[in-house]
Amino acid sequence: MKKFAVLTSGGDAPAMNACLRAIVRSGEVNDYKVYGIVGGYQGLIEGNFKPLSLEDVEGIISMAGTIIKTTRCDAFMTEEGFVRAVKNAKNQGFDAIIILGGDGSFKGALKLMKAGVNVVCIPCTIDNDLGYTDFTIGFDTAVSTVTTLLGNVRDTSSAHDRVCVVEVMGRHCGEIALNSGIASGAEVVLIPEISLSNEQICNKITSSTRNGEKCVLVVVAEGVGSAESVAEMIKQNLGIDAKSVDLGYVQRGGTPTANDRILATKMGVCAVECLTKKKYGMAISVNQNKINTLPLIKAIIPKSKLNKNLYFINDTLSI
Ligand code: ADP
Ligand code: F6P
Repeated sequence: MKKFAVLTSGGDAPAMNACLRAIVRSGEVNDYKVYGIVGGYQGLIEGNFKPLSLEDVEGIISMAGTIIKTTRCDAFMTEEGFVRAVKNAKNQGFDAIIILGGDGSFKGALKLMKAGVNVVCIPCTIDNDLGYTDFTIGFDTAVSTVTTLLGNVRDTSSAHDRVCVVEVMGRHCGEIALNSGIASGAEVVLIPEISLSNEQICNKITSSTRNGEKCVLVVVAEGVGSAESVAEMIKQNLGIDAKSVDLGYVQRGGTPTANDRILATKMGVCAVECLTKKKYGMAISVNQNKINTLPLIKAIIPKSKLNKNLYFINDTLSI
């Protein structure tokens, strides 16, 4: 019987489960036996395989996290761990492994491919930091969650006429900060792609309070620095109080949005379609609302085209 495996790797992302559901159901329709590799590349090294049935994926479309677990696996980066992973994959006789993760997971997948293991990759990370696709699974939910949380911070900051600096995730990428910042009407958005001096940041704060508004919301992407250090800098330079909060892991959980579930479903189906056509070594993308596939080697590029126009819109509006 034909069989393939699926694993989730790196940071989990809301709607990874919706994608797994689509993969398992699509696998069933196309007469595959489907296996989950438990715990990402660590599970591949340990040979931790588990058959996935329709029952296993029942009701998971609305659940964040991943039912087959994920890890950041240092052992996979060692010669010994990698050799074991390849040996296990080959011994199982999978037609291919579908890999759900971000750029690190994709790099691992490329190494597997070069060692003779067939792979197909699906972009799953809240960071939206993969340059080859307009969106990654999980990003829409994270922006939505962060926007809700920024609104809560705005409520209390406004009551106290305070400046509040909020740190959000994104690794080296400012997509979550920029998009949630726009959606929250943040007065200042600090992202790694556009660097501002302390003087420029302070000028923005001063000018946004010119019309009597004393509540200022500053969103800082983790790639720029910590909320605490930015708040400290504001206190030192402007002599005003500034609170800080790091949103942390709350922004990686929560019910996936409909958009993420739909994207995850479409990408999951497309990945299995690749297997039925023996189109291996591919990455799935969405570009201008269309699902595409391209060779994995071309997918490992960082996001270079942050929407600067979006940044300047926000900048113009935060007068
Ligand atoms: P993400 O996939 O979300 O970007 P990571 O960067 O942590 O998350 O990568 C997930 C896993 O992929 C790592 O723990 C490691 O096992 C594997 N990986 C990352 N980078 C590489 C690489 N350059 N070569 C081989 N494997 C890698
Ligand atoms: O890759 C997604 C991400 O959530 C990044 O935004 C963040 O820097 C990182 O993962 C945190 O990872 P960990 O769960 O290993 O602390």
